[in-house]
Amino acid sequence: MAAARGEFTSRFGFVMAAAGSAVGLGNIWGFPTQAASNGGAAFLLVYLALAFSLAYPALMAELILGRHAHANAVNALRLISPGTLLRRIGVSTGVIGLCVASLILSFYAIVAGWMIAFCLASIAGLLGLEGFAQWLTSFGAPRNITFMLLFMTLTIGIISEGVSEGIERWSARLMPALLVTLVLLVGYVLTLDGAMEGLKVYLLPDFERALSPKLIIAALGAAFFSLSLGVGTMLIYGSYISDKENLPLLGGMVTLVDISIAVLAGFLVLPAMYVALHNGVEIFTAGGTLISEDTLIFTVLPELFSTMGTAGIIVSITFFFLMSIAALTSSISMLEVPVAYTIEEHGVSRKKAVWVIGGIIAAISTVILFNFAQLFGLVIAFTTRYSQPLLGFMFCLYAGWVFNRNTLLQELRKGNPQVEQGLFWKIWPWYVKLVCPLIILAIFAQSLWG
Ligand code: PFF
Repeated sequence: MAAARGEFTSRFGFVMAAAGSAVGLGNIWGFPTQAASNGGAAFLLVYLALAFSLAYPALMAELILGRHAHANAVNALRLISPGTLLRRIGVSTGVIGLCVASLILSFYAIVAGWMIAFCLASIAGLLGLEGFAQWLTSFGAPRNITFMLLFMTLTIGIISEGVSEGIERWSARLMPALLVTLVLLVGYVLTLDGAMEGLKVYLLPDFERALSPKLIIAALGAAFFSLSLGVGTMLIYGSYISDKENLPLLGGMVTLVDISIAVLAGFLVLPAMYVALHNGVEIFTAGGTLISEDTLIFTVLPELFSTMGTAGIIVSITFFFLMSIAALTSSISMLEVPVAYTIEEHGVSRKKAVWVIGGIIAAISTVILFNFAQLFGLVIAFTTRYSQPLLGFMFCLYAGWVFNRNTLLQELRKGNPQVEQGLFWKIWPWYVKLVCPLIILAIFAQSLWG
């Protein structure tokens, strides 16, 4: 059965695909700017603590459930549930997860479209096509829709090729390209005047800011978003892992790659901001905090690039190319969630499922674009801040309380016969049962009533 539904052909292929899902706009854009405005290295420490203590165990819950069931989240949670009620709750969790994955893709495709547009704008600038470059960088319905559709088409094209020919092949190509591009950019930016100032802001901790409850919930959301948790993405990727593989090791590799790239991106974005300041670009808001989010990426950085002459154009093309790749390897993992469910649950062909679901998501993106002020921020907050951690909480409960302990051990033994003697087996089962759900709830309670 596993072969018929597709499988990653190598460990490298899986790690690139899962790290590709994890490494996205959240790492290169979200993490560094959040760190900058929230206590620098102190935020980094809170983030690292949450990533290892909460996100990694939650990631393992999804990978193990997925590989055990060799099925999508809905079927996996149904399969491990002993009674009707648990089965129903499990199925609902899986279905909500796939809706949330689709909604995340609907805003992600808009932002990713802007990245492609900005990349092309730099090329247009290089060719002297100023008018076209202007159109590409201005916020308008035709541009927004064109590039969202272009990005969705790329995502659909890869997913329609299936697991090994589509997801694995493209992740194994794009992820090394992403890493090389990022390292080159970091190396270059660190040589520029002003960069060291940015490095200080990034690396000097301010604990007072980093320990506020509001910030911890932001870091929790960021960690869950960054590892693509709660929506069944990692579960479905886990379901394509061969039984020969050692799951805790693979999960550890994915977490490490994800965190390393976020930290590395901090070495690019913050120094770049202070280089911009050095070149006369405004990087602070009226309130005195660092400019972040869309204004940073689409205003501050382009202004910086324009102060750098021809080198700036090359850097700009490279930077937006990097962002586009990062977004693409993540978006394919989001689309795979509803697609895999539709194929497995309703017996539809992959091509048909991909085009129909991709089309529906593109339609949702269009609705968001036409009601941007009301919907864009709302969809982001609803999906990433609340839904992902809460769904992650449910996956932890199912892995910890519902999944039979012996079956769990059998699953882990498949790729690692000595697992019982290791640290993972001593800690993870009770940890995912008690500690993860409690911490997630405590952080939530804090944010609601604190
Ligand atoms: N992990 C991606 C990022 O950091 O940008 C976002 C993401 C991918 C979220 C896949 C959810 C998902 F299912």
